[in-house]
Amino acid sequence: MKADELRHKFIEFFVSKDHTQISGASLIPENDPTVLFTTAGMHPLVPYILGQPHPAGTRLVDYQKCIRTGDIDVVGDPHHLTFFEMPGNWSLGDYFKEEAIRYSYEFLVDWLQIDPNTLSVTVFAGDDEVPRDEESAAVWRSLGIPDERIYFLPREDNWWGPAGEVGPCGPDTEMFIDTGRQACSPECRPGCACGKYFEIWNDVFMGYLKTAEGTYVEMDRKCVDTGMGIERTIAVLQGKKSVYETEVFTPIIDQISKLSGVVYGEIETQDISIRIVADHMRTSVFILGDQHGIKPSNVGQGYILRRLIRRAVRHARKLGITGKFLSALATVVIDMYSEAYPELVENQEFIMRELGLEEEKFSTTLQKGEHEFEKMLPNLLKGKNKLINGRIAFKLYDTYGFPIELTEELAAEHGLTVDMEGFNAAFLKHQELSRAGAEQQFKGGLADKSELTTALHTATHLLHQALRTVLGEHVGQKGSNITPERLRFDFTHDRPMTAEEKKQVEDLVNDVIARDLPVTSETMTIEEAKEQGAIAFFEGKYGEQVTVYSIGDFSKEVCGGPHVERTGTMGHFSIKKEQSSSAGVRRIRAILKK
Ligand code: ALA
Repeated sequence: MKADELRHKFIEFFVSKDHTQISGASLIPENDPTVLFTTAGMHPLVPYILGQPHPAGTRLVDYQKCIRTGDIDVVGDPHHLTFFEMPGNWSLGDYFKEEAIRYSYEFLVDWLQIDPNTLSVTVFAGDDEVPRDEESAAVWRSLGIPDERIYFLPREDNWWGPAGEVGPCGPDTEMFIDTGRQACSPECRPGCACGKYFEIWNDVFMGYLKTAEGTYVEMDRKCVDTGMGIERTIAVLQGKKSVYETEVFTPIIDQISKLSGVVYGEIETQDISIRIVADHMRTSVFILGDQHGIKPSNVGQGYILRRLIRRAVRHARKLGITGKFLSALATVVIDMYSEAYPELVENQEFIMRELGLEEEKFSTTLQKGEHEFEKMLPNLLKGKNKLINGRIAFKLYDTYGFPIELTEELAAEHGLTVDMEGFNAAFLKHQELSRAGAEQQFKGGLADKSELTTALHTATHLLHQALRTVLGEHVGQKGSNITPERLRFDFTHDRPMTAEEKKQVEDLVNDVIARDLPVTSETMTIEEAKEQGAIAFFEGKYGEQVTVYSIGDFSKEVCGGPHVERTGTMGHFSIKKEQSSSAGVRRIRAILKK
């Protein structure tokens, strides 16, 4: 079975079980500053799992684009991916363990024709805080899975979430296919790294809330969150050993072979480079082509994108590709996904332009780095031990963006070696410093639903409307990020705001706060919302139900909430900073003071 068919079947199955199909969300999480990308299908649904009513009901199904960047550096092996697709089904306080597991089993065995004898499952073994999940095990047993294929595993294996730092989470039951390969040891079991067992689906029983203090609070209303890995599931259904052998990668790999003349599957070191180029280009195209279209930059998502593109270019060079090649690979990715993710086609021009610019910039960086290296060379060659110390290598990396592998290559060409220990030490120190900075920035988040973040969220709507009133209708939200301390709002506008304009915006917002307007919400279709003049910056499916929040007669916006009930309690609004974010996009930081 191919990915396209699996995506459709998944939706069709759950719709036949009274689930409503909703659109997958952007890769850039709304209002969750704790992570850079949407990492799971449940991520955009956090407010609803926490209790907000979802306009489409209590049974939902969709497929979601996801990015996990935790292991960028291990991509290259046959299994890791930075981008993947996750179809999932949700019960928002509706069914729980029994039905969730029965649905999973029926889909796998009756719809995908997976031999139930190859199915192994894991369930939560229990600990001091949460009891052993006998209920899930009993359901699996009743479906015919024998005890020897039901594994009770601890929290590190069978607990999922939260998606960011805080939010809903719970014990899970995971489904694995036994590939029939030899067990690597008597202890080999689902989850073992040898790859005998392929994990394809995870049913999470969301019953707990992880708070900012790190404690777990039981939720009154229990939800189900499931996620299947499309790439892994088609690999196993097609009897392939690796996701890179399936049709979501072979066209990209063929194109890489065409450009480089290197055939996949012959030399392992070259295969690693091919997989890195293929994975990173697929992910880069999805980030650039997202409905929130991110460009390469030195911060946040843009920085990850830059790293992915540059790593792809570096490995392409290793394969012998020297000219410009990114757009040729991007075209393949866009063609492959044009039906499931039409935003890639809509944003094709942007994707191509940005890839071209980044390719040029990186080539300049490489030239500069090479030039710096040449300048240092005479001194380096004079040294007795023919060693480039770690500090110098780090400087090339940090100041000129020159990849360490290239420093090593150039060094080797001149009979020199790089003090990698020294480089790693300098690198770690740098990482610790930036991580400390990042943690500062990332505490809190809308998922904690505190009063402060909720009020700042309402303030974001007021700011959005005020900007449109003062600057014009061309203003549109490009991003939002809220911590308990401040809001950050990115919007389209191509010049700095004047002091006068900032003052007008602040006054407008404070005037609405003083009027103590009620905040109300209504459910309607996306078309009705637009007809009523609601600001909607996503393109939903035709007829999709959405929630529209109105703040008195001042603002109307499609949104998932939560918001304050009346504006009067919000405090005094002030803009702390207004600056450029990227070309044509401005960024405002603002606070509320009681
Ligand atoms: N949210 C769960 C996961 O990502 C389903 O595995």
